[in-house]
Amino acid sequence: MTYKLGIIGTNWITKQFVEAANESGQYELTAIYSRRESTGQKFGQDFNVDAVYTDLETFYNSGIDVVYIASPNSVHFEQVKTAIVHDIHVIVEKSAFSNPNEYAQIMQLLAEHKNVRLFEAARHIQQPNFKIIEEQVAKMPKISGATFVYEKYSSRFDEYLAGNEPNVLSRQFSAGALTDLGIYPIYAIIKLFGKPQASHYFATPLRNGADGRGIAILRYQDFDVTVEFGKGSNSHLNSEILGLRDTLVIGDIAEVLDITYYDADKVAHELSQAPATNPMISEAELFADMMTNKTETKTAYETLLTLSQTVNQVLFDLRQDAGIVFPADK
Ligand SMILES: NC(=O)c1ccc[n+]([C@@H]2O[C@H](COP(=O)([O-])OP(=O)(O)OC[C@H]3O[C@@H](n4cnc5c(N)ncnc54)[C@H](OP(=O)(O)O)[C@@H]3O)[C@@H](O)[C@H]2O)c1
Repeated sequence: MTYKLGIIGTNWITKQFVEAANESGQYELTAIYSRRESTGQKFGQDFNVDAVYTDLETFYNSGIDVVYIASPNSVHFEQVKTAIVHDIHVIVEKSAFSNPNEYAQIMQLLAEHKNVRLFEAARHIQQPNFKIIEEQVAKMPKISGATFVYEKYSSRFDEYLAGNEPNVLSRQFSAGALTDLGIYPIYAIIKLFGKPQASHYFATPLRNGADGRGIAILRYQDFDVTVEFGKGSNSHLNSEILGLRDTLVIGDIAEVLDITYYDADKVAHELSQAPATNPMISEAELFADMMTNKTETKTAYETLLTLSQTVNQVLFDLRQDAGIVFPADK
């Protein structure tokens, strides 16, 4: 089946997703939503699509089967809600929703629209290299602790330093280091180890109250996981999962690259495969499969949705701990 795809948000990540969707052979871009006709037309040129809508209702009534949403985090909720009401499947970029209250409302709507599938686009956990990490962790005799690092100077940080407030560094848009970058390691950690028993967040605020970087600690029954992330500097540290004498080292947790297992004799085993040229292909294929084979994939889909909801709750708990309030929380 080929799904008629509509997109919201016309930045580079949407282009990458449409390219992945095309490569999967299971989607066809048929509609573009943009706040401005000219921006939508410019985006559509690369894909020979000129069906541009500036009104959300008209866009959702244009016959699309699935929408990919890559707008600022704070506007996801209304755009997803409207899609579900129109019985359109949703692929929404991370972070899917601002808080658990929004997520609970979405779950209620999903219960009323049972044919609709909702996916959070956490591309990294769907990549073959992430499965390799999961398999290796399952084989390790004991987990003693872990440290995950994802700290990258944002292309928008210069703008912030110049006195502006870009969306991705603003609480107004439910953004900041935690929801923008911290979510990658936190998704990975929760996928690997489940929901933490407790969590703490030591955030370094920007002048506007958003978190520019921070250190989170997730507590599990037998071990703690430290997570370090930020948008105003570059870290070259690896992430690592500690066993007893053995260690699993991950060079880049967001791109899921450079995975090395050091065995009890400290012998290095390179585990990672060469990544796909487009890191969004695996998720595009998985989501198409889950929309097509609803019965066969019911359990896997529900597990994925629960994971997304758990991540949302943990991000909220961390923000609460650090005293970071989004306007969407009120
Ligand atoms: N998976 C990944 O690798 C990845 C990478 C980057 C970003 N993301 C996620 O993708 C989403 C978008 O991130 P981004 O950095 O591209 O955000 P952005 O540049 O702030 O906005 C993305 C698009 O949303 C629309 N938009 C901008 N401001 C808006 C506003 N005030 N109200 C409504 N729409 C607005 C714009 O499209 P129009 O002008 O056409 O309306 C814009 O192109 C976020 O959820 C982010 O976390 C994911």
